[in-house]
Amino acid sequence: MARHLITSALPYINGIKHLGNMVGSMLPADVYSRYLRQRGHDVLYICATDEHGTPAELAAKEQGLPVDEFCAQAHDAQKAVYDGFALAFDYFGRSSSPENREITQHFARKLNENGFIEERAIRQVYSPADGRFLPDRYVEGTCPHCGYDKARGDQCENCTRVLDPTDLINPRSAISGSTDLEVRETKHLFLLQSKLQHEVEEWVARHEADWPQLAASIARKWLTEGLHDRAITRDLDWGVPVPADTWPELAAEGKVFYVWFDAPIEYIGATKEWADQDPENRDWKSWWYDVDTQVRYTEFMAKDNVPFHTVMFPATELGVREPWKKVDYVKAFNWLTYYGGKFSTSQKRGVFTDQALDILPADYWRYFLIANAPESDDSSFTWEHFTATVNKDLADTLGNFVNRVLSFSRKRFGDEVPAGGLPGEAEAKLGEEIAALLAEYESQMEALQFRKAAAALRALWSAGNSYLEEKAPWLEIKTDKDGAALTLRTAMNLIHLYAVVSEPLIPATSAAMRSAFGLPADTATWVTSDEAKALASVPSGTPFTVPPVLFAKLTDEDLATYKERFGGQEG
Ligand code: MF3
Ligand code: ZN
Repeated sequence: MARHLITSALPYINGIKHLGNMVGSMLPADVYSRYLRQRGHDVLYICATDEHGTPAELAAKEQGLPVDEFCAQAHDAQKAVYDGFALAFDYFGRSSSPENREITQHFARKLNENGFIEERAIRQVYSPADGRFLPDRYVEGTCPHCGYDKARGDQCENCTRVLDPTDLINPRSAISGSTDLEVRETKHLFLLQSKLQHEVEEWVARHEADWPQLAASIARKWLTEGLHDRAITRDLDWGVPVPADTWPELAAEGKVFYVWFDAPIEYIGATKEWADQDPENRDWKSWWYDVDTQVRYTEFMAKDNVPFHTVMFPATELGVREPWKKVDYVKAFNWLTYYGGKFSTSQKRGVFTDQALDILPADYWRYFLIANAPESDDSSFTWEHFTATVNKDLADTLGNFVNRVLSFSRKRFGDEVPAGGLPGEAEAKLGEEIAALLAEYESQMEALQFRKAAAALRALWSAGNSYLEEKAPWLEIKTDKDGAALTLRTAMNLIHLYAVVSEPLIPATSAAMRSAFGLPADTATWVTSDEAKALASVPSGTPFTVPPVLFAKLTDEDLATYKERFGGQEG
C-alpha cells in the first residue's frame, strides 16, 4: 500500500467547463484515484476552483454581483456538475480560502527572506474612469501594423504581432471603453526566477525521464528559453493580499498576488481546507511537508498548464527553502477538439459539461472521453463517433451482455444463480483469457495510459460476448440443462467481475451491476488474478435481479438532434 497524492489542474471560476477541460484534467484524475483506492492504496484526490484574477472580476461584473458572491455561486455551480460526473474528490476547495491566503503569504515571505523577491517600479496603463490599472489585454485599440481596430494591448489577433499597450493607436479601456488613459509608475514584487534557473534545471533533469514525453519536452523547451523574473503582484481588488508585515507600502496600496502565484499553492491550501474540516483525523502536512519518499504525487493537466507545473511552481517551491512536496509524475494531455476545431468557452462552441449531463448520464461521457483521451495526440469529438461508441461498446458489448444473461437465466432457472456442472475446457480457456486481459488493464492503469486501459476493459467485455456466443446457452439448454446452467453461472461471474473492474470508468453502472447480486453500491475491492481465472466469486444459489437496461441505444434521430443543437463539422 502506498500513499498517493493526486491533483487535477484547478478549473478557473469564470464559467462552466467544456468536455475538453474535463478529459484533460479532472476525469482521468478521478479514474486513476478510483482505481488506486480499489487496489487498497491510501489516496488523497484534491482539486479546487481557481478564483482570483481579472477574468473573475469581469465575470462578476457582467452578472452584476460582488466578486466574492459571484465566486461562491460559481464554485457551487461547478461543484454540482462535478458531482453529476461522479468525480470523487476527497476535497474540492477554493483558492480564495483563508488557508490558501495563509500559505501563499508564507511562501512569499520565505521567498523574500531567501533573496528571491525584489520590488521594482514599472510603468502601466491606468484608467481613471475605471479607477484601476489595466492589464495589457484590457487595453484595446487600433493595430499600428495592420489597422485592425480591436487589437489587444498584448497582441493583435488579426496579424498576430506581439504588441505593447503603448503601441496601440487610439487606445481605450476594454472594460469601460474610456479613452482617458494614462501611464503611471507603480511598484510590484518580482519573483527572481532567473536566480533559480540552475536549481530547477537540476530538479527537472532528475525527474524528466519518469515523465511522459509531452510533459518532459515542454519543460525542456521552457528551460532552454530561460526563466525570466516576473511580476507576481497585481493592482486588483480581489486576490491574496500582499502581507503588510513584510511589504507595508504595497499592502497599503492594496496590491494582491497574481493569480498564477497563488493558484498552484492552493493544491496545498485545499489540502489544509480538507484537514481543517476534521482536524483530529486529518493531517494535511503529512501529505505535503517533508514526505519525499512516502507520498507519490501525480498531477493531471492539459498541455498549456505544463510550464507552470514543471518549471514555475517547482521554482517557487525550491526558493522557499523548506521541504515542500514536489510533483513526481506529470500527466499531461493534448486537446480534445470539436470536429477538428477548438472547443471554445468564449465562443460557446462544443459541449459544456452541464449540457452533457442534461442529455445523458455521466457514465456515457466518462467512458467515451477516457476511451478517446487525447494522450499521444489531439483527438476529435464528433457526435457520430460518440453515438457509435456508446452503441457498440456500452449498449451492445456491455449492457446487452448483462441483460441477456440475467433475463435468460431468470426465465429458465428462476431468481438465483443456477448451479450447473463443474467448469470445463471452455471455462478454463475463458479464465486464462480474462486473467491476461485483467493484467493488461492493470498495467495500463498503472502506466496512466487511459486509452489503452479503456481498450483492455472493452476487451474484457468482448471476451464475455465471445464465450456466450460460443456456448450459446439458449441452444445448449435444449440438450444439456446443466451445461447451460454452468454457462450462465460463469457469465454471471463475468458480470460481477465487470462490476468491480469497470468502476473507475463507469461507477454508476458498476453499482447497478453489483446491486443485481444484492451487493452494496460502494466500491468493491479488486479482483485477483486467481479470482479472475476461477470466475467463481458469485456462487450458485445467490439471488439476483435483472437491472433496467444499462445503456440506451442512441438512434439516428438522437444523432440528428444533437448535431442540430450543438452544430457539426461546419463550426
Ligand atoms: N485555472 C488554470 C487554468 O484553467 C489552471 C490552474 S492550475 C494551478 O488553466 F496550478 F494553478 F492550480
Ligand atoms: Zn495587427
